[in-house]
Amino acid sequence: MARTPLIAGNWKMYKTEREAEDYIQALLPRVAALDGVEVAICAPYTDLKALADSARGSRVEVYAQNMHQDAEGAYTGEVSAAMLAETGARGVVLGHSERRAYFGESDQALALKVPAALRAGLRPVLCVGESESERDAQDTERRLRQQVGEDLAGVDAAELAEVVIAYEPVWAIGTGRVATPEQAQEAIAFIRALLAARDEAAARGVRILYGGSVNADNAAELLALPDVDGALVGGASLQVEPFAQIISAARR
Ligand code: PGA
Repeated sequence: MARTPLIAGNWKMYKTEREAEDYIQALLPRVAALDGVEVAICAPYTDLKALADSARGSRVEVYAQNMHQDAEGAYTGEVSAAMLAETGARGVVLGHSERRAYFGESDQALALKVPAALRAGLRPVLCVGESESERDAQDTERRLRQQVGEDLAGVDAAELAEVVIAYEPVWAIGTGRVATPEQAQEAIAFIRALLAARDEAAARGVRILYGGSVNADNAAELLALPDVDGALVGGASLQVEPFAQIISAARR
């Protein structure tokens, strides 16, 4: 099964609505003529509606970076899947390592968030990956097995292909220390084997991205790996030019 590559820019807590608008107006003409690649901007909540309005009809989709698992409730400061969907957002990043490390994101909550996103018609981009000490302790596979197993426990085989997984080794995020092609390939092949053990046919449709210090110089080598279906790009997605170059490198 051919999987269309996905290049997703994770803006984190950067760009006001006005800055987002300037960016999307510059990006859209750069990607208009490309095919064979999907593009997503994962933006702060306050940018979503303006970005989705500006990007409508283009190949660029707008994703959020987090959401609450419940449909509604007394959860001050939180946002539901339906609220995101109404902005025009088409997906949501879940379980980013910064949310796990700084905001107490748990595998138990993610086990509810992933199905809640799917029910609302949002594509979940589930982030998994080992820390540096886990890699040093040869604990990478155990960690990936735990995250994939627990976070996707509520997703049945019919929905699995809707999920995107981003393999992001924590030690590579924002550090400039990109994983070697061998490290990325090995971890992503392991994740696909975990999915195949659940449902072989569904696993073939799941896109698995690499994330962590992807930039315009190293993207082509990573994206050429047979099991890598795209990239989740942080810092290098904040400027149009390098992000457009990464998108061009992903076409199959
Ligand atoms: P980075 O971030 O590309 O700046 O390393 C990746 C991410 O956090 O998704």
